[in-house]
Amino acid sequence: MTVQPQDKDLFDNAQAILRDNDRGAYTVPTKGLYPFQWNWDSCLTALGLRHFGEERAWTEVTTLLAHQWPDGMVPHIVFHVADEGYFPGPDVWACGRPTPTSGITQPPVLGYVLNRLFTEASDKTLARERALALTPKADAWHRWLYANRDPEGTGLVAILHPWESGRDNAIDWDEALARVPTEGVAPYQRRDTQHVNAAERPTQAEYDRYMWLVQHFRDLGWDNRRLHDASPFRVVDPGFNAILVRSDEALAELADALGLSDIATAARDRVAKATAAFAALWSDAAGQFLCFDRVADRLIESRSVGGVLPLFAGLGDTERLVATIRRWRDQVAFGVPSHDPADPRFDPRRYWRGPCWLIVNTMLADGLKRSGAGEAAAAIDADSLALIRTSGFAEYYDPTDGSGLGGRHFTWTAAMVVELLAGDRR
Ligand code: DGY
Repeated sequence: MTVQPQDKDLFDNAQAILRDNDRGAYTVPTKGLYPFQWNWDSCLTALGLRHFGEERAWTEVTTLLAHQWPDGMVPHIVFHVADEGYFPGPDVWACGRPTPTSGITQPPVLGYVLNRLFTEASDKTLARERALALTPKADAWHRWLYANRDPEGTGLVAILHPWESGRDNAIDWDEALARVPTEGVAPYQRRDTQHVNAAERPTQAEYDRYMWLVQHFRDLGWDNRRLHDASPFRVVDPGFNAILVRSDEALAELADALGLSDIATAARDRVAKATAAFAALWSDAAGQFLCFDRVADRLIESRSVGGVLPLFAGLGDTERLVATIRRWRDQVAFGVPSHDPADPRFDPRRYWRGPCWLIVNTMLADGLKRSGAGEAAAAIDADSLALIRTSGFAEYYDPTDGSGLGGRHFTWTAAMVVELLAGDRR
């Protein structure tokens, strides 16, 4: 690992954050605001952790998968400990798991991460042993996604709750979420706004609908075979699907290396089908992909970063997507904003309605490098480092002035900085 002398302090600070948020066998995204294990946070964090010990990085994903549901679903939160500082906690979800978990999932970046942990490992024996145990579990999750979230076999999966996208309050969900009722939501007290500025978080109206969906799924006994058709919120997110495609490509490569040919073949078949289906999400006018509302049966006119994230999987026209990112970037001081700044609904400080996120920058830059667009990738990496140097390790950043927003001392931000500074091992 080579860290340039001028980056040493930054690197040491990132390492200290990973250490502070380490709970032994998993990391918390940040103390207070998020006191449990989150699915895609944990997976992306493993990429940073491996630079300080490969065994610990494997443990991070092993812990997550130890809480996979029998049907294959990997939950978005694992409640390893009791903590009243977060809402909704295990009692609200009431999923009946031995260690409590939430009942929904999150972007499946695991396959991509497993393959990187494996192919870039120094300890090949450990990597082989761990990958052999975890690859079938990742495959089961992907099979679960297509079986339960694409029951008609379109090639693209739907999210049933905005939290599943990881981009909780993106403008993408506004229309579909407005159809979710709020009658009968049990009184509750939000905890997030006790930790961070309410103006940087989702609104109360959004939270009421988030809670209605949780209650609705709970009333259906968390029976995943029933949830898709019974949900008033069913949206195909190009971002989520692109992450799934990239993870399936990675899973195929990993399975080949491990001699698991059935898994490799099934993953490649899923990639081929999804890739063909992606064409229906393309908008020439927007110069990007759009979300598709499965209930209203139409594309959603919302130009968010979810629609350029297919770059991570090499999907779509790279030049057009890069031009879209440049157009956004020209209107702000730091990239990549999570929504088109020209849209009157753009809000530079409210969570996923405008702010920059380092994990998104990293996935975009990774996909661009893979597609040979090194210059565009380097511009994004430069913005990521500029944000960190301006405001430290925040959860997200205002693209207009680079100020840090949301939680601080943030694990996946630190992990992405370690990745950036330690140099790509590929
Ligand atoms: C939260 O609580 O804000 C999370 O994003 C939901 O997973």
